[in-house]
Amino acid sequence: MNIPEISAAEAAALINHGEWIGVGGFGPAGAPKTIPPAIAAKARKEHEAGHPFKVNIVTGASIGASCDGELAAADAIDQRLPFSVNPEIRKAYNSGRVRYTDLNLSDNATFLRQGLTGPVDWGIIEACDIQEVRGRVRIFLTAGIGIAPTICHSARKGVFVELNTWHSTKLIGMHDIYEIEAPWYRSPIRITQPVEIIGMPYIEVSPEHIKGIILTHQPDEARSMTPSTETTDCIGQHMADFLVDNMQRGYINSKKLILQSGVGSGANAVLGALGQCSEVPDFNIYTEVLQEEPLRLIQEGRVVSASTGALTISSEHLKNLYKNINDYRGRLLIRPSEISNCPEIIARLGICSLNTAIEVDIYGHVNSTKILGTKMMNGVGGSADFTCNAMLATFTCGSTAKDGKISSIVPFCSHVDHTEHYVDAVVTEYGVADLRGRCAMDKAKALIAIAHPDYRPLLNDYLKLAERYGGHTHHVLNAAFAMHDTYRRKGDMRLTDWSEYIKE
Ligand code: COA
Repeated sequence: MNIPEISAAEAAALINHGEWIGVGGFGPAGAPKTIPPAIAAKARKEHEAGHPFKVNIVTGASIGASCDGELAAADAIDQRLPFSVNPEIRKAYNSGRVRYTDLNLSDNATFLRQGLTGPVDWGIIEACDIQEVRGRVRIFLTAGIGIAPTICHSARKGVFVELNTWHSTKLIGMHDIYEIEAPWYRSPIRITQPVEIIGMPYIEVSPEHIKGIILTHQPDEARSMTPSTETTDCIGQHMADFLVDNMQRGYINSKKLILQSGVGSGANAVLGALGQCSEVPDFNIYTEVLQEEPLRLIQEGRVVSASTGALTISSEHLKNLYKNINDYRGRLLIRPSEISNCPEIIARLGICSLNTAIEVDIYGHVNSTKILGTKMMNGVGGSADFTCNAMLATFTCGSTAKDGKISSIVPFCSHVDHTEHYVDAVVTEYGVADLRGRCAMDKAKALIAIAHPDYRPLLNDYLKLAERYGGHTHHVLNAAFAMHDTYRRKGDMRLTDWSEYIKE
């Protein structure tokens, strides 16, 4: 193959201040690991010499510490989108050092193609293999795709491929690469069951477009999940009972149960608990990230088939998957995020979505992203893609956070990602609030019933006080954030005194 083998530092040397870099991978899985630290090193040198040096980073979703972490620590990022879970970069965008755009992941590739973000100058992609066939180059990706196909086709100056031999070439055939057509009168995306293949197992580009191959051998950077707790087990059991009840009533077809599961330890544990529940039939998964519990369920046969945007599992689990890859062939596919999160497919498959909330208000609005309304946690990710289009859209959360000092059920969400119109049910360790078909005031009663017992009297008092203002949804506007404000001032929402806020 006539493509130069170069070092990460040589690649970084070609990247200039102010340029846009598209980075492949999704949720650490499949993200490049050698060029980003080299860019960080270049940024430090430039800063020491008194020169400005910052790049703009667009990815499929979160990427590893060697990219977000290193670049943020080197103060080398100006704009970043669309999602990240990295604590180092979280500090940077909450202090205003990085301009962070939180975007629905299904929109991300389209925005890039339309030039609403970028335009991308360089692409950096991780591959498990690269082959030249009839004058074209085929790039075989690793454990996550994100927007790698769109990056490869739209990067103006070219693409660097990190050929990472840590990943197994047994991954070849596990990807289904398909780029969505332009939005006007586009043809249907014909996925009618989770692992139906519609695309190719590789990305194809011309050899001239690849500016260098960087050889590397490094494990993926996904963390192990924190183990389940009594609370997550309880939530999982309530969710299982709720799904079983919906099947018995005929709202869900038990033979075609397809679940999506969100990110984080909570989502992982809830899916694990569902798998344990004998009343829940074997099911399928169509999701953007596959964490450790669902992977175990595939191996156990509880999950029949799974389509995902990424395998966000620890390197130990990933190695194990490579060892037993034949158990997964035909049952597991990795897709680009615009397909894993595609509204059309989510709606067609009749998915039940299981996402995690930071807080929920008494009328059913959900905050997935902003701690106390101001500090970005991670981002909306694909939660809105699934919530808006799922047949049954659910959210789970523990009833409290920070040792009980914060209630997850509040009078008014301090930030809204998902409005009451899309949220069908909320599950805490105290039960399920089924919001479907309920009026606002009935939603409030159902949601207060699953709040922590310490907070139910407080929330009921709020509703009583709000009643005198009338309206369709009862609120006392100057007290709607009193619980948040009390936490800020006194460190515990339970100390909320409505009389401090409601004078008349
Ligand atoms: N107020 C303040 N802090 C809160 C809170 C609240 N109501 N609820 C949770 N937190 C804090 C926790 O204390 C914890 O803080 P720490 O990091 O200092 O320990 C942090 O938020 C994360 O909570 P945790 O319970 O560990 O969450 P998780 O790992 O299950 O993740 C989300 C939960 C909501 C952060 C995560 O699911 C997410 O980012 N969701 C948005 C994107 C998404 O849903 N993508 C999936 C679509 S397919």
